Amino acid sequence: MDKPISNIHFKFMSFGFKFRDLLRPPKNKLNEIGIKPGFHILDYGCGPGSYSIAAAQLVGNSGKVYALDIHPLGIERVQDIASKKGIRNIETICSDCATGLEDGNIDVVLLYDTFHDLMDPDVVLKELHRILKPNSILSFSDHHMKKGEIVSEITKKTLFKLSRKEKRSYIFLKV
Ligand SMILES: C[S@@+](CC[C@H](N)C(=O)[O-])C[C@H]1O[C@@H](n2cnc3c(N)ncnc32)[C@H](O)[C@@H]1O
Repeated sequence: MDKPISNIHFKFMSFGFKFRDLLRPPKNKLNEIGIKPGFHILDYGCGPGSYSIAAAQLVGNSGKVYALDIHPLGIERVQDIASKKGIRNIETICSDCATGLEDGNIDVVLLYDTFHDLMDPDVVLKELHRILKPNSILSFSDHHMKKGEIVSEITKKTLFKLSRKEKRSYIFLKV
C-alpha cells in the first residue's frame, strides 16, 4: 500500500510546480489529447491540481473532472483553487488506487509524473482500464522513466496499446 509523502515535501513540490506551469502551461499538454467539451476525465495523482484545473476549463460545464490523489493536501489544494475560480465541475477523490467510479464511464485518464511512485502499478493500471470507455485514452508522461520503459510497463498486461507519442505525452488506448 502506498503512503503519502510528508506535508513539507508536498508543499515544496507544489511550489516548484508553480514555476513549471509558467514555463510549460498545462493546457499545452492537454491540447495534444483532443479533449472536447463534455468529456469525463480522471486526473490520477493530481497533486496540487495543475492539470485538473486546466482540464475542467476545457471540458466545460457539461463535462467533469475527477481529481484523485493519495495526499490530503492535494485534495485540499484542488478544492481551494476550484472554489476561488468558481469551477464547479471538479470532484476530488482521496485514494491510493480505488477510484470508486463506475465501469466504462471515463473518456481520458491523465497519469502524469505519478507512475514511477506507485508500489503496485499494475493494480492501478487495472483500475484505470476498468473505468475507461472502450478505445478511450490514457495520456501519460513521467520524466523519471525512459521511452522503452514507459511503453513496456504500460502495455505489458495488454490492457493498453500505444497510439502515438506526442511532444509532451504518450497517448495509449484502452484495449
Ligand atoms: C510528482 S506529483 C505529480 C502531480 C501532477 N500529476 C502533476 O504532474 O502536476 C505525483 C503525485 O502522485 C501522488 N501519488 C503518489 N502515489 C499515489 C497513489 N498510489 N495514488 C494516488 N496518488 C498518488 C502524490 O501524492 C503526488 O501528488
